[in-house]
Formats: sequence, structure tokens, C-alpha cells
Amino acid sequence: MKHVVLVGMMGVGKSTVGRYLAARLERPFIDTDSLIEKQEGAAIAQIFASKGESYFRQLEIETIQKILNEPSAVISIGGGAFISPVVRFLLKDPAVTFYLQAKAETLIQRVGNGATRPMLTHGVQESVPDRFRRLLAERASTYELANHTIESDTLSPEQVGDAILKYRTAFE
Ligand code: S3P
Repeated sequence: MKHVVLVGMMGVGKSTVGRYLAARLERPFIDTDSLIEKQEGAAIAQIFASKGESYFRQLEIETIQKILNEPSAVISIGGGAFISPVVRFLLKDPAVTFYLQAKAETLIQRVGNGATRPMLTHGVQESVPDRFRRLLAERASTYELANHTIESDTLSPEQVGDAILKYRTAFE
């Protein structure tokens, strides 16, 4: 059994889809951002503000490494995690990765003013939509290295989950 790992930009619904999938598969659901917030006793935005992005990225790697040694789960990783070659290497054998893909405009509407998302606001001069589009353009080709890409624009979270379940022989 392999872990099911959801990757993709902020706002694409990784956590919602993950919770649905975990229930369907009767596996634990783990969200790396929530786990990090619990461990640190601080919100992601606070961690960025007080300790910086590289500290957060290191925590992300350590957290993912730890989770992968636990029983097979459905895991939602933060939008920047898969960009790390270390994370991609860690996921290679023990996980099947799914890139939840959606158009920038759909996601920009969902993230709003980006208040809880420091990558869109912390030390950034651009507007949230401009920053979002630039990040997505920088990251898209790396996200596509995931094992499978699910076009989620016109799908409900349950439909995205069901599309992932079609690959279940790969992770069961
Ligand atoms: C980030 C996405 C966030 C969180 C952090 C950095 C990113 O997770 O990990 O704010 O670099 O895209 P979500 O994708 O769950 O919002």
C-alpha cells in the first residue's frame, strides 16, 4: 500500500478532496500545514513572519519524512512542498502523487486577499492575482512531474476524489 499524496496550488482543494478520499479509503487524512501549525503552536503566516520561509520549508521536509514512515494515509502537502527536489525524492517510492490542476483565475477567486497565505503577501510588492499567476507559471512544470494530473476546474471535490479512486490499484 502506498500513500496517496495531493499536490498543487493553494486553493485547489487538496484538503477537501483529501478528507473525502481518506473517508472512502478508510485511511487517515494528514494535512502537512495543519500538522506543522500544531507542532509549532503558530499559524503558517506567523511562522513565515517570525522565522522565515526557509525555516518553514525545512519543517515541511521533516514533517513529510515522518509521515511517510507511518501507515498508508491520504496526505495533502502545502502548495510549495512538491517544488522541493528533496520532497519529490522522498515521495518517489512510498507514494502515488496527484497534481490537482485548475486555471489561475479559478484559484485566484478562491484565495481572495491571501490573508492566510504568506507566499502571496509576505514581502511581496505585486498584487495577489499577479503574484499568484507568476507562482503558478513558475511551478506548473514541476507539479506536472506528479504521477497523475487531475483537471479539477469543472469538478466538485467528490468528483476529483472519484477520479483519483480510478487509480486505486496503484496505491492499494
Ligand atoms: C504555500 C502553500 C500553503 C502553505 C504555505 C506555502 C505555497 O499551503 O504551505 O503558505 O508555497 O504555495 P496550501 O497549498 O495548503 O494553501
